[in-house]
Amino acid sequence: MKLLKFIFAVTLSMVCLSAEKNIVTSKGNILVTGGNGYIGLSTCRALKENGYTPVSVDNSSNSIIPTITWGPIEKGDILNKKWLHKIFKKYKFSGIIHLAAKIYVPESVDQPLLYYRENIDGLLNILELATEFNVKGIVFASTSAVYGNLESEDPVLESHPTQPLSPYAETKMIGEKLLKFVWEHHKIPSAILRYFNVCGIDKATDNKDGHSVHLIPSLYKAFQKTPVEVKIFGTDYSTSDGTCIRDYVHVNDVAQANVKALEYVLTKKEPITANIGSGNSYSVIQVAQAVSRYAKLDYKEIRLQRRPGDIPVVVADITKAKETFKWEPANSDLENIVKSYY
Ligand SMILES: NC(=O)c1ccc[n+]([C@@H]2O[C@H](COP(=O)([O-])OP(=O)(O)OC[C@H]3O[C@@H](n4cnc5c(N)ncnc54)[C@H](O)[C@@H]3O)[C@@H](O)[C@H]2O)c1
Repeated sequence: MKLLKFIFAVTLSMVCLSAEKNIVTSKGNILVTGGNGYIGLSTCRALKENGYTPVSVDNSSNSIIPTITWGPIEKGDILNKKWLHKIFKKYKFSGIIHLAAKIYVPESVDQPLLYYRENIDGLLNILELATEFNVKGIVFASTSAVYGNLESEDPVLESHPTQPLSPYAETKMIGEKLLKFVWEHHKIPSAILRYFNVCGIDKATDNKDGHSVHLIPSLYKAFQKTPVEVKIFGTDYSTSDGTCIRDYVHVNDVAQANVKALEYVLTKKEPITANIGSGNSYSVIQVAQAVSRYAKLDYKEIRLQRRPGDIPVVVADITKAKETFKWEPANSDLENIVKSYY
């Protein structure tokens, strides 16, 4: 009996110690909306590795419930404010990384009302609850699409005039404005991060192919078939080789940027808008050649018409993110991105 009591006491003290350890080591609960999505999974991992407890809120509309997790997962819709209120009450978030959104440009052109309803209403619920529950800082997933048609291969600065050309980009622009109001009226600082072309695979997560509609995953798929045929949409743009030029940034670097930007707003208590890209530009042909080199396979080019809505060139100037929150796109070398799919 005495021995049993002793074992019980030791076990209890170990449980208490570990619970206490968790409280001491976690830097706080962070709400990650869309935490089961492509960028969300890597962001939850990066938060956990940096001492936070990520709480993913996701309605599974564009993802599955992951098997590899870094914190609690709450299945639900951010448009359901009553439910979301309970989540805020339960976790007392110190910060928010808001990723949940409808994300496809052509779909937004076909269904603009759906995009306004989902992306704006969802964000309004998050912001109203952030003010009610005294959240200390927010990171918002914006996009390079807010710059519109740049017509220059020069890297774009955050101060460049914005000109969203699709309902998707417009909802992100409205989101940026709402965050500015929340800063002015409620003093909650936010980091508005304008992501460029997010790609690459985070091997630590369940997502093994990224978004298959994007260029590099589509090339990866094309190189699995024989003969290899690569479709190029638009070869008459006013760029060096006539194809579209983009800035590709690895999802692991985006996740790291989310954490660094969150820490910036939480400690500096001031808002920031920053580009998140690699700062390097590659044409569609250069990317296809990089995949071909890695796969050690030749390919046949299928030259097709331009797709409506594709802009010729967009490349990030990333000086601000590097200097203000000491972020580096350490994994965004093109070879490294291509390699990550294999
Ligand atoms: N992937 C890119 O290249 C890129 C570029 C620029 C900006 N962004 C932005 O980054 C964010 C994340 O993008 P992603 O590529 O990870 O997309 P994703 O679709 O993989 O992730 C979004 C997640 O949000 C969830 N979601 C959507 N609506 C929801 C709702 N109403 N309630 C709860 N959950 C909801 C989806 O199920 C999904 O898991 C988006 O806001 C997107 O606009 C992405």
